Amino acid sequence: MKFYFAPMEGITLYPLRNVHRELFGEGIERYYTPFLTASQNYHFKNREKRDVLPEKNVGFDNYSEQIVPQIMAGEAEPFLWAAAQMKKMGYNEVNINLGCPAPTVVNRHKGAGMLEDPERLEKFLDGIFEEIRRNSEVVVTERHGDRAKVSLRSNDSALKMAEAFDKSQGTLYPAISLKTRLGMSDPQEADRLMEIYAKYPLKELIIHARVREDYYKGRARTEDFIRAVKVYRECGGKADICYNGDINSPGDYSALPELCGGGDNYDAMNMRHNIEAFTQNDSDIKPFISAVMIGRGLLADPALVRRLRGGEALRAEELRLYLERLYEEYEKFIPEDRNIIFKMLEHWAFLQVHFEGCERALKAIRKSRSKGEYRAAVNNIFANCEYITDSSC
Ligand SMILES: Cc1cc2nc3c(=O)[nH]c(=O)nc-3n(C[C@H](O)[C@H](O)[C@H](O)COP(=O)(O)O)c2cc1C
Repeated sequence: MKFYFAPMEGITLYPLRNVHRELFGEGIERYYTPFLTASQNYHFKNREKRDVLPEKNVGFDNYSEQIVPQIMAGEAEPFLWAAAQMKKMGYNEVNINLGCPAPTVVNRHKGAGMLEDPERLEKFLDGIFEEIRRNSEVVVTERHGDRAKVSLRSNDSALKMAEAFDKSQGTLYPAISLKTRLGMSDPQEADRLMEIYAKYPLKELIIHARVREDYYKGRARTEDFIRAVKVYRECGGKADICYNGDINSPGDYSALPELCGGGDNYDAMNMRHNIEAFTQNDSDIKPFISAVMIGRGLLADPALVRRLRGGEALRAEELRLYLERLYEEYEKFIPEDRNIIFKMLEHWAFLQVHFEGCERALKAIRKSRSKGEYRAAVNNIFANCEYITDSSC
């Protein structure tokens, strides 16, 4: 099983990614960036662009594979522009955001808003994959600065050569994966969505087992997830499947075999579903799910993946170091102490589960105005509140 760190707007930015990777990264295959908006004016916001600059992602020895930028777009063309920019920066994959539930996003038919209108979604994906298909016929044989000599893989024709020449000024595209919910309000909507997704050569299909109207509340809809994956396979979908939603403890993780069907049809040792239900020949055999993406669980317990892989639970001194390293990294680009403390409070909102009765002490963090006050408040928590090793039970 592969593990991914989920994208979380404003939180899983490069300081967190670098620090997490440094201290707890073993066993985490990929880190997804919060979404970058591919705007109609073909321009990224400075802070979004900074987050994906290779020189900021210093904790990664192979960022091209280990980090996946996520793109939010409402039209194919800006998406393709953004994807090409990411490829130029060295990324091998980008992920399409089809899950953000925020009203400002949904009202613009982006994020989960795309799920409302399957025809529009299909047009969006057609636009993306048709361009990628055409581009894949172009082979860049030589490059001289911005110019490139090109040839075609097949079907040389004047038109294609002309297109190829145009393309030579641009860049080839990275692989495309997609992160979706099960629908807007009714998980039955997933049937149509899966039928659409099955048409395209996605690198991976990540399914957050909720509908938009759930936002992040309630239990993940695991039954509906299973059904959606079956529909996807029945429609001929070949992409690897990644499960996302509410994996916060080893208990949640060990319930996954159950989640993936259980019973006679299921081989729990290798997470492989009896594939006869889905495909005709052995070479098509795919595990039911091949990856699990975790968001809030990793914010609350940065060592969660280590625990899921049989390792030890988070120790107090590790948590302390993690907090110190995060502060140091935020300090490098946030000038005022107060704003760094706000950033740290976003982490404390998840991490407080490790301390018994720490409400008053946390209040002191919230009230702190300077680095000194913040540190005193944190020292107080570690000295006087009971540390809970296994906060997830
Ligand atoms: C504060 C917050 C920000 C999020 N930002 C993004 C985002 O930028 N892109 C995205 O695809 N999902 C985003 N998500 C959703 C998470 O990636 C994930 O799908 C969700 O939290 C469910 O997984 P979990 O139960 O493991 O947390 C966000 C979730 C939260 C709570």
